[in-house]
Amino acid sequence: MTTKPQDFPRRTALAALGAGMGAALLSACGRGEAATGAIAPLKSHAPFPLGVCAMTAQMGDPQWAAMIATHFDRLTPEWEMKMEYILQPDGSLRFDAPDRIVQQARNYGQSVLGHTLIWYAQDGDSFQRLKGNRPAFETAYRAYIRDVMTHYKGHVDGWDVVNEPILDDGSDLRDCLWREVLGDAYIDIAYQAAHEADPACPLILNDYNLEYYPAKRKRFLSLVEGMLTRGVPLHVLGTQTHIAADLPRGAIRETLRDLAATGLKIHLSELDISLKEAAKNTLDFKDYRDAQRALYEEAAEAYAALPSAQQFGLTVWGLRDKDSWYNRKDRGLIADEPLLFDDAGQLKPVGQAFVKALG
Ligand code: XIL
Repeated sequence: MTTKPQDFPRRTALAALGAGMGAALLSACGRGEAATGAIAPLKSHAPFPLGVCAMTAQMGDPQWAAMIATHFDRLTPEWEMKMEYILQPDGSLRFDAPDRIVQQARNYGQSVLGHTLIWYAQDGDSFQRLKGNRPAFETAYRAYIRDVMTHYKGHVDGWDVVNEPILDDGSDLRDCLWREVLGDAYIDIAYQAAHEADPACPLILNDYNLEYYPAKRKRFLSLVEGMLTRGVPLHVLGTQTHIAADLPRGAIRETLRDLAATGLKIHLSELDISLKEAAKNTLDFKDYRDAQRALYEEAAEAYAALPSAQQFGLTVWGLRDKDSWYNRKDRGLIADEPLLFDDAGQLKPVGQAFVKALG
């Protein structure tokens, strides 16, 4: 049975280790400590759940597995719970890979966040075929949400129901198949269907660039206000925080403050800070290392300063630099260094600063 993230006893993982969850896990953790120079678990510094994204392709890497078990409370599947993985062209669903991530998390006493049910960027042949038939489309839409949520009921401790609904300029909702067929109501319908499937599950609205574009943040917040006024079950706001190291100071703090003013719980949901994006003209990272450290500190301090009842958790988007999506999508000649641990699994100076700022 699942423990919901709000009441997830943060020390359960450690207690479970102490209670002997298996020799393999204990020895894996031992290797993790060695690989990270025997540092204290990162999660022991955070008075809220600390998460990281995960893919099944990484699970066979002993260092990755050991470090994940040692340092984090919570896993978010990086892509294998998205529609592009789960939904097959004939409309059937496959759960093999996400089930493995959930099982691994359970073995380690970690919670899991579901990411993501409805995203403008992904639809699928079975929905495209129903485009001209609104009633059938809506039935299939509700059924997808219901079936995925039901499969993970009791095993997933929060869902990003709708991901990235707002245009960067803040002028409107993004266009997508869901909106084309169901209108703006696609968002409310998704939350209603999710809540019906698992009434105890915290439902999250997640978006990015909220710290870059105040107009986008404003539109995001007006969407939230409308949903709450309409009685839509929405419990958590996610701010991805994929940022570059040249983001002006103060923007993360201001964003967290604005989001928290809604009274909802806040998930800092996909934190990474790119040096390469900041240094894209020169590719000289040294000019941005101090700035990156200051931003990691700001994220940690500002999140830690939120009322504890609103701290849903903080998730980093990858473990070691080589695990980052930035290095997979566009590695180029020089790899980015956006994360807390280096390729060898050592906590970097920026990671040490982040950990210190959490406390
Ligand atoms: C990215 C993953 O990191 C990649 O592995 C995948 O190929 C594409 O998606 N916002 C999100 C995440 O909500 O799902 C994205 O993750 C990063 C941006």
